[in-house]
Amino acid sequence: MTERVVLAYSGGLDTSVCIGWIAEATGAEVIAVAVDVGQGGEDLDVIRKRALACGAADAEVVDARDEFAQEYCVPAVKANALYMDQYPLVSALSRPVIVKHLVATAEKHNAGIVAHGCTGKGNDQVRFEAGISSLAPGLKCIAPVRDYAMTRDKAIAFAEAKGLPIATTKKSPYSIDQNVFGRAVETGFLEDIWNGPVEDVYEYTRNPAEPREADEVVITFEQGVPVALDGVAVTPLQAVQQLNQRAGAQGVGRLDMVEDRLVGIKSREVYEAPGAIALITAHRELEAVTVERELARFKRQVQQRWTELVYDGLWFSPLKQALDGFIDEANKYVSGDIRMTLHGGRAVVTGRKSAQSLYDFNLATYDTGDTFDQSMAKGFIEIFGLSTKIAAQRSLRAQDGAAAQ
Ligand code: ARG
Repeated sequence: MTERVVLAYSGGLDTSVCIGWIAEATGAEVIAVAVDVGQGGEDLDVIRKRALACGAADAEVVDARDEFAQEYCVPAVKANALYMDQYPLVSALSRPVIVKHLVATAEKHNAGIVAHGCTGKGNDQVRFEAGISSLAPGLKCIAPVRDYAMTRDKAIAFAEAKGLPIATTKKSPYSIDQNVFGRAVETGFLEDIWNGPVEDVYEYTRNPAEPREADEVVITFEQGVPVALDGVAVTPLQAVQQLNQRAGAQGVGRLDMVEDRLVGIKSREVYEAPGAIALITAHRELEAVTVERELARFKRQVQQRWTELVYDGLWFSPLKQALDGFIDEANKYVSGDIRMTLHGGRAVVTGRKSAQSLYDFNLATYDTGDTFDQSMAKGFIEIFGLSTKIAAQRSLRAQDGAAAQ
């Protein structure tokens, strides 16, 4: 039987060329799979037909938008996932859901190989291949751009020689990856890290410096999951989409950073993730109100580790899954409303309300009605500070001893 290869297909030049290139290099039939994670742009059926026109034996499209929002973006919100304290994992979240569908398609078609269009320098190759080996250890992976040295120039020459129905002329100066959770832009003049991003880099956000009216939104969470905006029930996908619009209109969620890739390179990335940043900002504040201090402190360490695991392509790893259990448990009481002002590129929390709140007005107040017994504080501090006090006394004795010699 002819070997089959399942290819992660975007519809662009590189993966369109990959179809024929893989077929020639391996003698296999290529099955193209395009996964919709809310990247927008072209109609998926157009993409499917293009794959067939480029020589795919079969082509499938999957609408994974709700699945992506519920099972990948929501856990990232619960984890307040910001890699290097900034980047909400946009691309890193989409790879595992794409992997899941590649593996399912490979099983369905009895394919033994999965292929993707990543280069050998980035994180995404790791996310695809580590993900695939976690879900289906028997599948092999190939990456033509990396493994068969398929450069852009060779791809264009191949497309022209075969008459592939794909535009080879206009090349965006940037490398862009986008989905409903955000948009990543790199390369081109951004590779000089002194160059500031120009306005036309952005698509999900308006310029925050332009004058406009502020927007106010109330986000309701249930156990860490966004369930309503301004009192109107929404699915996680709708929450992200609607906040992309509203926060994006206020310029919220623009990032410009130099980031540590897993492969050891530092790279400059410009991101825009208005919905993600609005949701994480709100969720983090609701945790501040509803999560007990020690749990909250420990969770900050756990979520940083979780974020690094996901960034590093270990979504399906045992540690990441075990940390999911902790993060879900920590979100048990993270229910309530957060009010935010969206304006001037920022999402600023202005109010919190929760039936699970641990904020006790009578303990916190400096006015009458105070139930906190201040007389107990003196003894508490005496004992709390005792061990460092004894150590300080020893330091003084040691100094005196040294001075006396
Ligand atoms: N550096 C980011 C990450 O590893 C984004 C990579 C996405 N690709 C791109 N062409 N910008 O998650």
